[in-house]
Amino acid sequence: MDKLNRRNVLRAGGALGAIGALSLATPAQARPLWTWSARGSVAGTGAGLDPRWVWDEEADPLVASLLDRGDVPKVNELLRTWTKNSQPLPDGLPTDLRDFMEHARRMPSWADQEKLATAVEFNEKRGLYLGVLYGLASGMMSTVIPKEARAVYYSQGGADMKDRISKTAKLGYDIGSRNAYEPDGEMIVTCVKTRLVHAAVRHLLPQSQYWQGAADEEIPISQADMMVTWHSLPTTVMQKLTAWEVPIPDAESEAFLHSWQLGAHMLGIKDEYIPASWSEANSQAKQVLDPILAPTPEGIKLADILLSLGAEVDGGILSKPILGSFTRFMLGDEIAGWLQIPREPLWDTLLNTFWGPFILAREGLLPFPGAKETYWLFEEFIRQAALIYLSEARPISIEIPQTNRPS
Ligand code: HEM
Repeated sequence: MDKLNRRNVLRAGGALGAIGALSLATPAQARPLWTWSARGSVAGTGAGLDPRWVWDEEADPLVASLLDRGDVPKVNELLRTWTKNSQPLPDGLPTDLRDFMEHARRMPSWADQEKLATAVEFNEKRGLYLGVLYGLASGMMSTVIPKEARAVYYSQGGADMKDRISKTAKLGYDIGSRNAYEPDGEMIVTCVKTRLVHAAVRHLLPQSQYWQGAADEEIPISQADMMVTWHSLPTTVMQKLTAWEVPIPDAESEAFLHSWQLGAHMLGIKDEYIPASWSEANSQAKQVLDPILAPTPEGIKLADILLSLGAEVDGGILSKPILGSFTRFMLGDEIAGWLQIPREPLWDTLLNTFWGPFILAREGLLPFPGAKETYWLFEEFIRQAALIYLSEARPISIEIPQTNRPS
Protein backbone atom coordinates (compact mmCIF):
# COMPACT_ATOMS: atom_id res chain seq x y z
CA MET A 1 0.00 0.00 0.00
CA ASP A 2 2.93 2.34 0.50
CA LYS A 3 3.24 2.45 -3.26
CA LEU A 4 0.70 5.24 -3.18
CA ASN A 5 2.68 8.19 -4.46
CA ARG A 6 1.86 11.87 -4.36
CA ARG A 7 0.61 12.02 -7.90
CA ASN A 8 -1.71 9.11 -7.27
CA VAL A 9 -3.02 10.66 -4.11
CA LEU A 10 -3.66 13.94 -5.84
CA ARG A 11 -5.35 12.17 -8.69
CA ALA A 12 -7.51 10.26 -6.28
CA GLY A 13 -8.30 13.35 -4.26
CA GLY A 14 -9.26 15.12 -7.42
CA ALA A 15 -11.40 12.32 -8.70
CA LEU A 16 -13.25 12.02 -5.48
CA GLY A 17 -13.54 15.74 -5.11
CA ALA A 18 -15.29 16.03 -8.35
CA ILE A 19 -17.92 13.67 -7.16
CA GLY A 20 -18.77 16.28 -4.63
CA ALA A 21 -19.86 18.47 -7.43
CA LEU A 22 -22.23 15.89 -8.76
CA SER A 23 -25.45 16.82 -7.16
CA LEU A 24 -27.47 19.68 -5.68
CA ALA A 25 -30.96 21.09 -4.81
CA THR A 26 -34.14 21.62 -2.66
CA PRO A 27 -37.55 23.17 -2.89
CA ALA A 28 -36.71 26.74 -3.83
CA GLN A 29 -39.55 28.09 -1.74
CA ALA A 30 -38.20 26.28 1.33
CA ARG A 31 -35.10 28.43 1.24
CA PRO A 32 -34.74 31.33 3.60
CA LEU A 33 -34.36 34.85 2.29
CA TRP A 34 -30.91 35.86 1.11
CA THR A 35 -29.42 38.07 3.79
CA TRP A 36 -25.72 37.28 3.44
CA SER A 37 -23.91 40.56 2.89
CA ALA A 38 -21.63 41.10 -0.10
CA ARG A 39 -19.34 42.92 2.33
CA GLY A 40 -18.10 39.47 3.32
CA SER A 41 -17.34 38.50 -0.28
CA VAL A 42 -14.11 38.63 -2.26
CA ALA A 43 -15.61 41.64 -4.09
CA GLY A 44 -16.39 43.38 -0.80
CA THR A 45 -19.46 44.93 -2.37
CA GLY A 46 -22.27 43.95 -4.72
CA ALA A 47 -25.68 44.63 -6.15
CA GLY A 48 -27.18 42.51 -3.38
CA LEU A 49 -29.43 40.53 -5.72
CA ASP A 50 -30.75 37.25 -4.36
CA PRO A 51 -28.53 34.68 -6.14
CA ARG A 52 -31.47 32.30 -6.55
CA TRP A 53 -32.54 34.53 -9.40
CA VAL A 54 -29.16 35.09 -10.96
CA TRP A 55 -27.65 32.64 -13.45
CA ASP A 56 -24.87 33.37 -15.98
CA GLU A 57 -25.94 36.20 -18.22
CA GLU A 58 -22.86 35.93 -20.41
CA ALA A 59 -22.63 32.19 -21.00
CA ASP A 60 -26.31 31.24 -20.98
CA PRO A 61 -27.59 33.07 -24.11
CA LEU A 62 -24.39 32.24 -25.95
CA VAL A 63 -24.60 28.47 -25.34
CA ALA A 64 -28.34 28.44 -25.99
CA SER A 65 -27.58 30.00 -29.35
CA LEU A 66 -24.81 27.46 -30.08
CA LEU A 67 -27.28 24.66 -29.38
CA ASP A 68 -30.00 26.25 -31.50
CA ARG A 69 -27.58 26.90 -34.35
CA GLY A 70 -26.39 23.27 -34.30
CA ASP A 71 -22.80 24.39 -33.63
CA VAL A 72 -22.17 22.23 -30.56
CA PRO A 73 -20.76 19.07 -32.26
CA LYS A 74 -18.20 21.16 -34.12
CA VAL A 75 -17.34 23.17 -31.00
CA ASN A 76 -16.90 20.02 -28.90
CA GLU A 77 -14.60 18.54 -31.49
CA LEU A 78 -12.47 21.67 -31.67
CA LEU A 79 -12.32 22.08 -27.89
CA ARG A 80 -11.06 18.51 -27.40
CA THR A 81 -7.65 19.82 -28.42
CA TRP A 82 -7.77 22.75 -25.98
CA THR A 83 -6.37 21.34 -22.74
CA LYS A 84 -3.74 23.64 -21.19
CA ASN A 85 -4.34 26.97 -19.46
CA SER A 86 -1.99 28.97 -21.66
CA GLN A 87 -2.86 27.24 -24.93
CA PRO A 88 -4.37 29.47 -27.63
CA LEU A 89 -7.97 28.65 -28.48
CA PRO A 90 -8.28 26.43 -31.55
CA ASP A 91 -9.00 28.04 -34.92
CA GLY A 92 -12.49 27.69 -36.28
CA LEU A 93 -14.54 28.46 -33.15
CA PRO A 94 -17.58 30.70 -33.71
CA THR A 95 -16.54 34.30 -33.08
CA ASP A 96 -19.03 34.93 -30.27
CA LEU A 97 -17.82 31.85 -28.41
CA ARG A 98 -14.17 32.74 -28.94
CA ASP A 99 -14.74 36.26 -27.58
CA PHE A 100 -16.49 34.89 -24.51
CA MET A 101 -13.83 32.28 -23.81
CA GLU A 102 -10.95 34.75 -24.19
CA HIS A 103 -12.60 36.83 -21.52
CA ALA A 104 -13.71 33.92 -19.31
CA ARG A 105 -10.24 32.35 -19.16
CA ARG A 106 -8.68 35.47 -17.59
CA MET A 107 -7.82 35.14 -13.91
CA PRO A 108 -9.25 37.84 -11.64
CA SER A 109 -7.01 40.64 -10.36
CA TRP A 110 -7.24 39.22 -6.84
CA ALA A 111 -5.54 35.90 -7.77
CA ASP A 112 -2.59 35.51 -5.39
CA GLN A 113 0.28 33.36 -6.69
CA GLU A 114 1.86 33.04 -3.26
CA LYS A 115 -1.33 31.61 -1.81
CA LEU A 116 -1.66 29.24 -4.75
CA ALA A 117 1.85 27.94 -4.09
CA THR A 118 0.92 27.32 -0.44
CA ALA A 119 -2.25 25.55 -1.58
CA VAL A 120 -0.05 23.11 -3.47
CA GLU A 121 1.80 22.29 -0.25
CA PHE A 122 -1.49 21.75 1.54
CA ASN A 123 -2.88 19.50 -1.20
CA GLU A 124 0.29 17.43 -1.16
CA LYS A 125 0.39 17.06 2.62
CA ARG A 126 -3.31 16.35 3.00
CA GLY A 127 -4.07 14.47 -0.21
CA LEU A 128 -5.21 11.32 1.60
CA TYR A 129 -7.67 13.09 3.85
CA LEU A 130 -8.88 15.20 0.94
CA GLY A 131 -9.54 12.06 -1.09
CA VAL A 132 -11.73 10.55 1.60
CA LEU A 133 -13.50 13.80 2.38
CA TYR A 134 -14.20 14.91 -1.17
CA GLY A 135 -15.54 11.45 -1.94
CA LEU A 136 -17.49 10.53 1.15
CA ALA A 137 -18.39 13.90 2.65
CA SER A 138 -18.81 16.16 -0.40
CA GLY A 139 -19.80 13.41 -2.82
CA MET A 140 -22.42 11.84 -0.61
CA MET A 141 -23.67 15.24 0.55
CA SER A 142 -24.32 16.16 -3.05
CA THR A 143 -26.95 13.42 -3.20
CA VAL A 144 -29.03 15.18 -0.52
CA ILE A 145 -28.90 18.52 -2.29
CA PRO A 146 -32.23 18.12 -4.07
CA LYS A 147 -31.77 20.50 -7.00
CA GLU A 148 -28.36 19.14 -7.82
CA ALA A 149 -29.48 15.54 -7.50
CA ARG A 150 -32.36 16.13 -9.90
CA ALA A 151 -30.29 18.14 -12.37
CA VAL A 152 -27.64 15.45 -12.46
CA TYR A 153 -30.12 12.61 -12.68
CA TYR A 154 -32.16 14.05 -15.56
CA SER A 155 -29.29 15.53 -17.59
CA GLN A 156 -27.49 13.62 -20.29
CA GLY A 157 -24.74 12.47 -17.93
CA GLY A 158 -27.26 10.99 -15.48
CA ALA A 159 -27.72 8.03 -17.79
CA ASP A 160 -24.09 6.95 -17.35
CA MET A 161 -22.94 7.84 -13.89
CA LYS A 162 -19.52 6.25 -14.18
CA ASP A 163 -18.66 8.35 -17.18
CA ARG A 164 -20.13 11.39 -15.53
CA ILE A 165 -18.12 10.87 -12.38
CA SER A 166 -14.91 10.64 -14.34
CA LYS A 167 -15.73 13.91 -16.12
CA THR A 168 -16.68 15.68 -12.96
CA ALA A 169 -13.64 14.15 -11.29
CA LYS A 170 -11.44 16.08 -13.64
CA LEU A 171 -12.15 19.36 -11.87
CA GLY A 172 -11.28 17.93 -8.47
CA TYR A 173 -8.10 16.46 -9.88
CA ASP A 174 -7.09 19.65 -11.64
CA ILE A 175 -7.60 21.91 -8.62
CA GLY A 176 -5.39 19.66 -6.50
CA SER A 177 -2.60 19.33 -9.01
CA ARG A 178 0.72 21.12 -8.66
CA ASN A 179 0.28 23.36 -11.70
CA ALA A 180 -3.48 23.89 -11.36
CA TYR A 181 -3.64 27.53 -12.42
CA GLU A 182 -0.18 27.69 -14.01
CA PRO A 183 0.27 28.03 -17.79
CA ASP A 184 0.85 24.27 -18.17
CA GLY A 185 -2.01 23.32 -15.81
CA GLU A 186 -5.60 22.51 -16.77
CA MET A 187 -7.84 24.02 -14.10
CA ILE A 188 -8.71 27.16 -16.08
CA VAL A 189 -9.63 25.10 -19.14
CA THR A 190 -11.73 22.73 -17.05
CA CYS A 191 -13.58 25.60 -15.37
CA VAL A 192 -14.33 27.43 -18.61
CA LYS A 193 -15.58 24.22 -20.24
CA THR A 194 -17.69 23.43 -17.16
CA ARG A 195 -19.14 26.93 -17.31
CA LEU A 196 -20.26 26.15 -20.87
CA VAL A 197 -21.69 22.79 -19.76
CA HIS A 198 -23.71 24.42 -16.99
CA ALA A 199 -25.03 27.01 -19.45
CA ALA A 200 -26.11 24.17 -21.76
CA VAL A 201 -27.85 22.40 -18.87
CA ARG A 202 -29.79 25.60 -18.10
CA HIS A 203 -31.08 25.57 -21.67
CA LEU A 204 -31.68 21.83 -22.00
CA LEU A 205 -33.14 20.65 -18.69
CA PRO A 206 -36.25 22.84 -18.89
CA GLN A 207 -37.05 20.89 -22.08
CA SER A 208 -37.00 17.54 -20.23
CA GLN A 209 -40.46 16.32 -19.35
CA TYR A 210 -38.95 14.16 -16.57
CA TRP A 211 -37.09 17.07 -14.99
CA GLN A 212 -40.13 19.30 -15.35
CA GLY A 213 -42.18 16.68 -13.54
CA ALA A 214 -39.72 16.39 -10.66
CA ALA A 215 -38.30 19.89 -10.26
CA ASP A 216 -39.87 22.89 -8.63
CA GLU A 217 -37.91 25.49 -10.55
CA GLU A 218 -37.79 26.75 -14.10
CA ILE A 219 -34.11 27.23 -14.74
CA PRO A 220 -31.53 25.11 -12.92
CA ILE A 221 -28.07 25.99 -11.58
CA SER A 222 -28.57 29.49 -10.22
CA GLN A 223 -25.72 31.34 -8.55
CA ALA A 224 -27.19 30.25 -5.20
CA ASP A 225 -27.13 26.62 -6.35
CA MET A 226 -23.52 27.03 -7.41
CA MET A 227 -22.60 28.30 -3.96
CA VAL A 228 -24.48 25.44 -2.29
CA THR A 229 -22.42 22.92 -4.24
CA TRP A 230 -19.28 24.91 -3.58
CA HIS A 231 -19.94 24.68 0.17
CA SER A 232 -20.40 20.92 -0.11
CA LEU A 233 -16.78 20.92 -1.30
CA PRO A 234 -14.20 23.17 0.42
CA THR A 235 -16.37 24.41 3.30
CA THR A 236 -17.46 20.90 4.27
CA VAL A 237 -13.95 19.50 3.87
CA MET A 238 -12.42 22.19 6.07
CA GLN A 239 -15.14 21.77 8.69
CA LYS A 240 -14.37 18.05 8.89
CA LEU A 241 -10.60 18.52 9.05
CA THR A 242 -11.13 21.00 11.86
CA ALA A 243 -13.50 18.65 13.68
CA TRP A 244 -10.92 15.86 13.38
CA GLU A 245 -8.34 18.23 14.91
CA VAL A 246 -5.95 17.85 12.01
CA PRO A 247 -3.32 20.56 12.61
CA ILE A 248 -3.41 23.00 9.69
CA PRO A 249 -1.32 26.18 9.69
CA ASP A 250 -3.43 29.28 9.03
CA ALA A 251 -1.56 30.06 5.83
CA GLU A 252 -2.39 26.62 4.40
CA SER A 253 -6.01 26.85 5.40
CA GLU A 254 -6.30 30.28 3.73
CA ALA A 255 -4.47 29.04 0.67
CA PHE A 256 -6.84 26.10 0.24
CA LEU A 257 -9.74 28.54 0.47
CA HIS A 258 -8.09 30.80 -2.09
CA SER A 259 -7.70 28.01 -4.64
CA TRP A 260 -11.42 27.30 -4.33
CA GLN A 261 -12.38 31.00 -4.43
CA LEU A 262 -10.57 31.20 -7.74
CA GLY A 263 -12.27 28.02 -8.91
CA ALA A 264 -15.64 29.58 -8.09
CA HIS A 265 -14.77 32.71 -10.07
CA MET A 266 -13.56 30.74 -13.06
CA LEU A 267 -16.78 28.68 -13.00
CA GLY A 268 -18.76 31.89 -13.45
CA ILE A 269 -19.79 32.55 -9.85
CA LYS A 270 -19.94 36.29 -9.24
CA ASP A 271 -17.33 37.67 -6.87
CA GLU A 272 -20.02 39.24 -4.71
CA TYR A 273 -21.25 35.77 -3.73
CA ILE A 274 -17.82 34.19 -3.06
CA PRO A 275 -16.95 34.32 0.66
CA ALA A 276 -13.75 36.17 1.52
CA SER A 277 -12.86 34.06 4.59
CA TRP A 278 -13.68 30.77 6.27
CA SER A 279 -15.88 32.49 8.80
CA GLU A 280 -17.85 34.13 6.00
CA ALA A 281 -17.97 30.78 4.20
CA ASN A 282 -19.30 29.05 7.30
CA SER A 283 -21.93 31.69 7.83
CA GLN A 284 -23.04 31.57 4.20
CA ALA A 285 -23.14 27.75 4.26
CA LYS A 286 -25.35 27.88 7.32
CA GLN A 287 -27.74 30.03 5.35
CA VAL A 288 -27.69 28.33 1.95
CA LEU A 289 -26.54 24.74 2.45
CA ASP A 290 -27.71 23.41 5.81
CA PRO A 291 -31.43 24.26 5.46
CA ILE A 292 -31.85 22.82 1.98
CA LEU A 293 -30.46 19.32 2.53
CA ALA A 294 -33.23 16.78 1.93
CA PRO A 295 -33.80 13.39 0.37
CA THR A 296 -35.15 12.89 -3.15
CA PRO A 297 -35.79 9.65 -5.07
CA GLU A 298 -33.12 10.77 -7.55
CA GLY A 299 -30.56 11.46 -4.80
CA ILE A 300 -31.19 8.07 -3.19
CA LYS A 301 -30.47 6.36 -6.50
CA LEU A 302 -27.33 8.42 -7.06
CA ALA A 303 -26.09 7.68 -3.54
CA ASP A 304 -26.57 3.98 -4.11
CA ILE A 305 -24.48 4.17 -7.28
CA LEU A 306 -21.72 6.10 -5.50
CA LEU A 307 -21.61 3.63 -2.60
CA SER A 308 -21.45 0.71 -4.99
CA LEU A 309 -18.47 2.03 -6.93
CA GLY A 310 -15.96 1.07 -4.23
CA ALA A 311 -16.83 -2.59 -4.45
CA GLU A 312 -15.74 -2.58 -8.08
CA VAL A 313 -12.23 -1.70 -6.96
CA ASP A 314 -12.06 -3.68 -3.76
CA GLY A 315 -14.81 -5.94 -2.51
CA GLY A 316 -13.47 -5.87 1.08
CA ILE A 317 -12.57 -2.68 2.82
CA LEU A 318 -14.46 -0.53 0.37
CA SER A 319 -17.57 -2.66 0.29
CA LYS A 320 -20.89 -0.88 0.23
CA PRO A 321 -21.65 -1.48 3.94
CA ILE A 322 -18.33 0.01 5.02
CA LEU A 323 -18.65 3.05 2.77
CA GLY A 324 -22.20 3.41 4.05
CA SER A 325 -21.01 3.32 7.65
CA PHE A 326 -18.39 5.94 6.89
CA THR A 327 -21.04 8.13 5.27
CA ARG A 328 -23.17 7.80 8.40
CA PHE A 329 -20.18 8.68 10.56
CA MET A 330 -19.41 11.80 8.53
CA LEU A 331 -22.85 13.10 7.63
CA GLY A 332 -24.85 11.82 10.60
CA ASP A 333 -27.81 9.55 11.24
CA GLU A 334 -30.40 11.80 9.68
CA ILE A 335 -28.74 11.97 6.26
CA ALA A 336 -27.82 8.27 6.40
CA GLY A 337 -31.48 7.56 7.09
CA TRP A 338 -32.61 9.70 4.17
CA LEU A 339 -30.26 7.77 1.91
CA GLN A 340 -31.56 4.46 3.29
CA ILE A 341 -28.09 3.43 4.41
CA PRO A 342 -28.39 0.49 6.81
CA ARG A 343 -26.73 0.56 10.23
CA GLU A 344 -23.51 -1.47 10.50
CA PRO A 345 -23.05 -2.15 14.24
CA LEU A 346 -19.39 -3.20 14.02
CA TRP A 347 -18.17 -0.43 11.72
CA ASP A 348 -20.41 2.23 13.24
CA THR A 349 -18.96 1.48 16.68
CA LEU A 350 -15.37 1.30 15.48
CA LEU A 351 -15.64 4.66 13.71
CA ASN A 352 -17.41 6.39 16.58
CA THR A 353 -14.90 5.12 19.11
CA PHE A 354 -11.59 5.12 17.34
CA TRP A 355 -11.60 7.48 14.32
CA GLY A 356 -10.81 10.60 16.41
CA PRO A 357 -7.93 8.93 18.28
CA PHE A 358 -6.70 7.42 15.00
CA ILE A 359 -6.34 10.86 13.41
CA LEU A 360 -4.57 12.22 16.49
CA ALA A 361 -2.20 9.24 16.48
CA ARG A 362 -1.61 9.61 12.76
CA GLU A 363 -0.70 13.24 13.30
CA GLY A 364 1.77 12.21 16.03
CA LEU A 365 -0.24 14.01 18.69
CA LEU A 366 -1.27 11.10 20.95
CA PRO A 367 -0.63 7.36 21.14
CA PHE A 368 -3.43 5.27 19.63
CA PRO A 369 -5.53 3.79 22.47
CA GLY A 370 -7.02 0.90 20.48
CA ALA A 371 -5.65 -2.30 19.02
CA LYS A 372 -2.90 -2.07 16.39
CA GLU A 373 -5.24 -3.90 14.00
CA THR A 374 -7.83 -1.14 14.23
CA TYR A 375 -5.22 1.49 13.43
CA TRP A 376 -4.09 -0.35 10.33
CA LEU A 377 -7.65 -1.05 9.27
CA PHE A 378 -8.35 2.69 9.25
CA GLU A 379 -5.05 3.43 7.56
CA GLU A 380 -5.88 0.93 4.84
CA PHE A 381 -9.34 2.41 4.53
CA ILE A 382 -8.18 5.96 3.85
CA ARG A 383 -5.59 4.74 1.37
CA GLN A 384 -8.09 2.57 -0.46
CA ALA A 385 -10.75 5.26 -0.36
CA ALA A 386 -8.29 7.74 -1.84
CA LEU A 387 -7.59 5.28 -4.62
CA ILE A 388 -11.17 4.31 -5.25
CA TYR A 389 -11.82 6.36 -8.34
CA LEU A 390 -8.26 6.49 -9.54
CA SER A 391 -9.11 4.35 -12.50
CA GLU A 392 -11.62 7.02 -13.44
CA ALA A 393 -9.18 9.90 -13.50
CA ARG A 394 -8.01 9.16 -17.01
CA PRO A 395 -7.53 12.01 -19.48
CA ILE A 396 -11.03 13.01 -20.29
CA SER A 397 -12.73 15.70 -22.27
CA ILE A 398 -15.54 17.74 -20.76
CA GLU A 399 -18.05 18.31 -23.54
CA ILE A 400 -21.14 20.44 -23.94
CA PRO A 401 -24.22 18.17 -23.77
CA GLN A 402 -26.79 18.35 -26.54
CA THR A 403 -29.59 16.37 -24.95
CA ASN A 404 -31.06 15.32 -21.63
CA ARG A 405 -31.27 11.85 -20.13
CA PRO A 406 -33.54 10.00 -22.53
CA SER A 407 -35.88 8.59 -19.86
C1 HEM B 1 -21.46 19.28 -15.14
C2 HEM B 1 -18.57 20.78 -11.54
C3 HEM B 1 -22.36 23.09 -9.62
C4 HEM B 1 -25.22 20.23 -12.28
C5 HEM B 1 -20.34 19.56 -14.39
C6 HEM B 1 -18.99 19.25 -14.76
C7 HEM B 1 -18.18 19.63 -13.72
C8 HEM B 1 -19.01 20.23 -12.72
C9 HEM B 1 -16.67 19.48 -13.65
C10 HEM B 1 -18.55 18.63 -16.07
C11 HEM B 1 -18.71 17.17 -16.02
C12 HEM B 1 -19.64 16.63 -17.05
O1 HEM B 1 -19.70 17.14 -18.16
O2 HEM B 1 -20.31 15.67 -16.72
C13 HEM B 1 -19.34 21.61 -10.73
C14 HEM B 1 -18.84 22.43 -9.64
C15 HEM B 1 -19.90 23.12 -9.13
C16 HEM B 1 -21.07 22.67 -9.86
C17 HEM B 1 -17.39 22.47 -9.18
C18 HEM B 1 -19.98 24.13 -8.02
C19 HEM B 1 -18.96 24.65 -7.39
C20 HEM B 1 -23.47 22.47 -10.14
C21 HEM B 1 -24.83 22.71 -9.71
C22 HEM B 1 -25.63 21.88 -10.44
C23 HEM B 1 -24.79 21.15 -11.35
C24 HEM B 1 -25.22 23.70 -8.65
C25 HEM B 1 -27.13 21.70 -10.41
C26 HEM B 1 -27.94 22.29 -9.60
C27 HEM B 1 -24.46 19.79 -13.33
C28 HEM B 1 -24.99 19.07 -14.47
C29 HEM B 1 -23.90 18.84 -15.33
C30 HEM B 1 -22.73 19.38 -14.66
C31 HEM B 1 -26.44 18.68 -14.68
C32 HEM B 1 -23.93 18.22 -16.72
C33 HEM B 1 -24.00 16.77 -16.77
C34 HEM B 1 -24.25 16.25 -18.17
O3 HEM B 1 -23.44 16.44 -19.07
O4 HEM B 1 -25.26 15.66 -18.34
N1 HEM B 1 -20.34 20.19 -13.16
N2 HEM B 1 -20.69 21.77 -10.81
N3 HEM B 1 -23.49 21.52 -11.14
N4 HEM B 1 -23.11 19.95 -13.48
FE1 HEM B 1 -21.92 20.92 -12.22
